[in-house]
Amino acid sequence: MKILAFAGSSSSTSRNLELVKYVLKDFTEHDINLLDLNDFDMPVFSVDREKNGYPQAAHDFLKAIGECDAIICSLAEHNRSYTAAFKNVFDWASRIHVKVWQDKPMFLLSTSPGGYGGGNVMATAQKFFPQFGADIRETFSLPKFIENFDVEKTEITAPDLKAALDEKTAAFKQGL
Ligand SMILES: Cc1cc2nc3c(=O)[nH]c(=O)nc-3n(C[C@H](O)[C@H](O)[C@H](O)COP(=O)(O)O)c2cc1C
Repeated sequence: MKILAFAGSSSSTSRNLELVKYVLKDFTEHDINLLDLNDFDMPVFSVDREKNGYPQAAHDFLKAIGECDAIICSLAEHNRSYTAAFKNVFDWASRIHVKVWQDKPMFLLSTSPGGYGGGNVMATAQKFFPQFGADIRETFSLPKFIENFDVEKTEITAPDLKAALDEKTAAFKQGL
């Protein structure tokens, strides 16, 4: 079974990528395709640019989704919304195929250093990703990443949060 995983961030030190890697520790028997949004760098979307066609990277992103059986993604939050890096990929891809997520089961996560853990971008994605073909099975926002995550060990340090995420990960895995 193929899992497509990515963080909605272009940061080389992405905290959301760390969270994705933590969840992936429970998917050792799966075939993992861990995407880096930097590999999908495209000009900023515009309705004028799209008249000249769609960048190969947008097609590649859709192809990667099409080839997977499930998606694990963790969205970074910038100014209460998607990062520009994620939104650009999403915008280009949505113009080729509006059902970007292609009905794939999705585990949707977010984290940030703040106490809401990217809860705003999570709320937006939770509400609207289904309109773009997402089958969101589980969601989890990790608050206060710096306090609650050990990057060296790829481990959640707060026992209650770890237990909550592990439970959701197990449920997502079970449902696949
Ligand atoms: C331009 C900008 C805007 C941000 N806005 C928010 C925000 O609205 N909410 C929040 O919780 N964190 C915000 N942050 C902090 C990010 O959550 C933090 O940088 C986090 O590490 C981003 O995730 P990443 O490391 O996966 O890229 C912002 C950071 C930047 C650079």
